[in-house]
Amino acid sequence: MKIQISDIEQVLNCVIHPEYDKSVMELSLVQNLVYNQEENKITFRLVFHRADPMSGDLKESCYQALTSTFPDTEVSIVELVDTNRSTAHKKGELGRGDLEKSELCRVKNIIAIASGKGGVGKSTVAVNFAVTLAKHGYKVGLIDADVYGPSIPKMIGEESAVPQMIEEANYLGGKDSKQLMVPIEKFGVKWMSIGFFVTPEQALIWRGPMASGALKQLTYETRWGELDYLLIDLPPGTGDIHISMIQEISLTGAIIITTPQTIALADVEKGINMFNNKDVNIPILGIIENMSWFTPQELPNNKYYIFGKDGGIKMAEKYNLSLLAQIPIVQGVMDGGENGRPAACQDGEIFNAFSSIIPKL
Ligand SMILES: Nc1ncnc2c1ncn2[C@@H]1O[C@H](COP(=O)(O)OP(=O)(O)OP(=O)(O)O)[C@@H](O)[C@H]1O
Ligand SMILES: [Mg+2]
Repeated sequence: MKIQISDIEQVLNCVIHPEYDKSVMELSLVQNLVYNQEENKITFRLVFHRADPMSGDLKESCYQALTSTFPDTEVSIVELVDTNRSTAHKKGELGRGDLEKSELCRVKNIIAIASGKGGVGKSTVAVNFAVTLAKHGYKVGLIDADVYGPSIPKMIGEESAVPQMIEEANYLGGKDSKQLMVPIEKFGVKWMSIGFFVTPEQALIWRGPMASGALKQLTYETRWGELDYLLIDLPPGTGDIHISMIQEISLTGAIIITTPQTIALADVEKGINMFNNKDVNIPILGIIENMSWFTPQELPNNKYYIFGKDGGIKMAEKYNLSLLAQIPIVQGVMDGGENGRPAACQDGEIFNAFSSIIPKL
């Protein structure tokens, strides 16, 4: 019988690490897997990232599973601990296996900008906050996770940009090379969006898994380098994309965007509950109230509360969260989104409002 590597992998995929509830394959514990046909022998290394009390049992389970599936085959497993990669695989941290072998290992904070509600200004806030952080000297990246309706390329005036691909040899210090996308750099921020690769019409026909896959690729296969903050501009709602994003990327936390309108609040609460859900359990860093009041250019001291007043404060109180900022409606913010130069690029009220968030994080 000729044994394929994929047959062996399939068997090992059924050996589950009880602590993480994932297989030894999914956790990337199996390395240097070789099948020598002449000797009819399977060899591989079982590499743990810390001294693991389950290591002996797992090695035995792998051995049993393989010898019972391939009865006449010799199986040799070397078990070892590689502490160079010991930071991850903490209990309960979903997706850490992916994280640790990807570009994200050099990103300090990954923050989702979210809201259950559409059109409240998530993308506007995300873009302006990214620009503000960069102006304060932080290394910042932003992913447009709105795979079905990417708006970032337009908002930064890069609708026709196409990210380059590079081949990185010895990827993350290993032996292999890997193709990576180079993010578009502008206003001091590294940007990545599905909009750089496909037209909105093309993305619209994707089904859920394809959209999630595309997003995963944008996240893991972009050469981010070292970042202090990677912001993720989430699409509205609490659907597939959100769940997969939240489960597969180890988020530091989420910032919730709302407007003061009570009609917006019910949807926004769904967003809060999604992060608070016990299976998801991602810290909410605070709420930003957008479109808090309108100040006309010619009357800079006047505030008109056209969407109601203090909805964000009430929501923050209800959920015991901090209100990170109130962002007024100003013509410059909307114009900035239209003409591809975010309002926060310029010093002034908007830049100051976003700057006030930083010490609160
Ligand atoms: N503070 C503001 N002042 C003026 N206009 C604003 C402000 N915030 C957002 N807008 C405008 O409101 C519209 C919606 O904003 P944006 O696209 O950022 O919302 P969103 O929540 O990301 O929407 P979606 O749910 O579709 O992703 C845009 O035209 C934007 O320019
Ligand atoms: Mg948006």
